[in-house]
Amino acid sequence: MSKSIAFFNNKGGVSKTTTCFNLGWKLAERGHRVVMVDADPQCNLTGMVLDLSSANALDTFYDSNPGRNLRDALDPAFTSRPVPLKPVDCVAVEGRSNLYLVPGHVGLAEYEVSLGIAQQLSESLQALKNLPGSMRFLFDITAASLNAEYVLIDLSPGLGSMNQNLVMTSNYFAIPASPDVFSVMAMESLARVLPRWARWAKSASELETLENADYPFPRMSLKLLGTIVQRYRLRSGSPTQAFMGYFELLDEAVDDLLLPALEKVDLTLSRETYADAGLEGGLRLGSVSDFNTLIATSQQAKKPVFALTQQDVGQGGVVWENQEESISAFNQTFDEMALRVEKLTKT
Ligand SMILES: Nc1ncnc2c1ncn2[C@@H]1O[C@H](COP(=O)(O)OP(=O)(O)OP(=O)(O)O)[C@@H](O)[C@H]1O
Ligand SMILES: [Mg+2]
Repeated sequence: MSKSIAFFNNKGGVSKTTTCFNLGWKLAERGHRVVMVDADPQCNLTGMVLDLSSANALDTFYDSNPGRNLRDALDPAFTSRPVPLKPVDCVAVEGRSNLYLVPGHVGLAEYEVSLGIAQQLSESLQALKNLPGSMRFLFDITAASLNAEYVLIDLSPGLGSMNQNLVMTSNYFAIPASPDVFSVMAMESLARVLPRWARWAKSASELETLENADYPFPRMSLKLLGTIVQRYRLRSGSPTQAFMGYFELLDEAVDDLLLPALEKVDLTLSRETYADAGLEGGLRLGSVSDFNTLIATSQQAKKPVFALTQQDVGQGGVVWENQEESISAFNQTFDEMALRVEKLTKT
């Protein structure tokens, strides 16, 4: 059975998509078969894999690849068509064997309302009983069709029903954050929202209607993998000291608020397991510094920063030497992060 990991934070622009892509690539590089799912109607993850530079590129892709995106693959469940869900014919990511993508769709947002109604667990549930378990079912059969070990799910920012479902039906989740006051506030709000969602998921999984659905709502097994802090909003001239201050505030919010709140509803691994994997204060799965100029090259090459070659960078001499050093430092950062993920998801 595959292990799914959702990248989640209600705060936008904190590197959820970038981390999902980079970690997916790194896990694949380390020999795991990985399926990435673009569950954000913004389709940014899809844009990192497919060439969407020409106008209407996404529409052209949908037209010539019917059914090959998350919305269309879920369509039979959401429009109550009497055909079973089928594994998605994933896109193989160019340049990285073992790595696959379930492309996103702008129209996925249209399913949010029906899912929201289904998830109220009210009288209308009978008619909508197949919705709450459908996404997890689709990911499971898709991963099985590729013999994949990991399913990495990129979420949109926000606290809507779609994210509620995607997080609560995953096996694990990681919280990307940036060192700023908004991410500290987001940790506080996650400490309130996640326990509520967990109580909902528990009662949903105990409902007979959902248990007997074609796509049964799974028993909750969600566990937090940790936080990933990205230092990418480094403005020139602003002292590193300022960022350190936010690192401390974030760690405090995680250690004093989030972790205790999640422990109460069984959404954490044991403190010993975290410590064995090397996670300490702030439950930091990793910290990624600013990619600086390498981000542009990475977007152009459609590769993570750590996988860039001299040919991708197109520079020689001292410029390349400096960049090579920085690429190899990022490579080490993501190797460490992947190793921790491997350890935490072992059981
Ligand atoms: N470590 C980094 N250094 C520099 N730039 C980064 C870094 N991580 C992410 N970025 C850039 O920051 C922007 C936001 O990142 P990304 O799209 O991954 O965030 P997100 O959390 O997925 O956003 P959204 O909430 O909109 O989905 C992107 O332009 C990305 O290229
Ligand atoms: Mg994103």
